[in-house]
Amino acid sequence: MTGRLDGTTAVVTGASSGIGNATARALAAEGATVALFARRRDRLEDLAAELGDHAEVHEVDVTDADAVRDAIEAVARDRGGIGVLVNNAGYGTMDPALEADLGEWRTMVDVNLNGVLATTHAAVSHLTRAARGGRGVADVVTVSSVAGRKVNGPGSNVYAATKHAVNAFSEALRQELAPQHVRVGLVEPGLVDTELTNTGRDNAPDASSASELGVLEAQDIADAIVYVVTRPPRTAVNEVLVRPIEQTG
Ligand SMILES: NC(=O)c1ccc[n+]([C@@H]2O[C@H](COP(=O)([O-])OP(=O)(O)OC[C@H]3O[C@@H](n4cnc5c(N)ncnc54)[C@H](OP(=O)(O)O)[C@@H]3O)[C@@H](O)[C@H]2O)c1
Repeated sequence: MTGRLDGTTAVVTGASSGIGNATARALAAEGATVALFARRRDRLEDLAAELGDHAEVHEVDVTDADAVRDAIEAVARDRGGIGVLVNNAGYGTMDPALEADLGEWRTMVDVNLNGVLATTHAAVSHLTRAARGGRGVADVVTVSSVAGRKVNGPGSNVYAATKHAVNAFSEALRQELAPQHVRVGLVEPGLVDTELTNTGRDNAPDASSASELGVLEAQDIADAIVYVVTRPPRTAVNEVLVRPIEQTG
């Protein structure tokens, strides 16, 4: 059976759980080779074992720009290029400023913003090269959030700031890379049932509303990402906002 991403190598950050795990599976099901990035090697190895030859493991902390660059270079060298980058790794807390820990704020900036910058910076020349190849396009998809479009109440301070920042960065990158046929898109989930929202921490993003609202499954977001990266070369899907049906905010 032929997949729509046969011959394409995709880097997925945060592939050890949640949306990243589901996305790596979905891209592999379309024929892509998937490079799995995250810190928990055991989780990545379990996933790679399921996916077979078309998956490889990179134990990488996205806040370490040198490690990110080394891993991206290794993928490009060993797999002959990189055609899809999914910037998915993320972290969030929802503490109001009077109670917040500055270290938690910095971690959100480091993972959600600086991590996206490091991975994108390392991959961009490989993506422009891939866009001149067989598929005729390459893709950067960043998993932002509803919090990238609106500030949803007290406590969303730094999480929302990081997601607004990646939205602005993504739009600028879209304008820069459109002539080279690198498509740059955002997928913006509402509440999804993942480790991020099920930590037991009452300061996890959207944890307070989880019991009242419907929730998405990680697969719902993976489906949106696959949709974005499998459009014909003439079509760039720049933004996809996906909420559970009952989520109003
Ligand atoms: N769940 C939601 O309701 C929701 C809503 C909107 C947006 N999002 C966004 O969706 C994305 C994925 O989150 P999720 O919900 O799937 O949560 P998750 O299950 O907690 O997954 C987060 C992933 O990010 C990775 N990660 C965290 N810090 C990292 C670091 N320093 N270096 C490398 N990888 C790191 C984790 O891997 P390791 O711990 O193994 O490194 C994990 O694979 C995030 O960007 C999040 O902001 C989630």
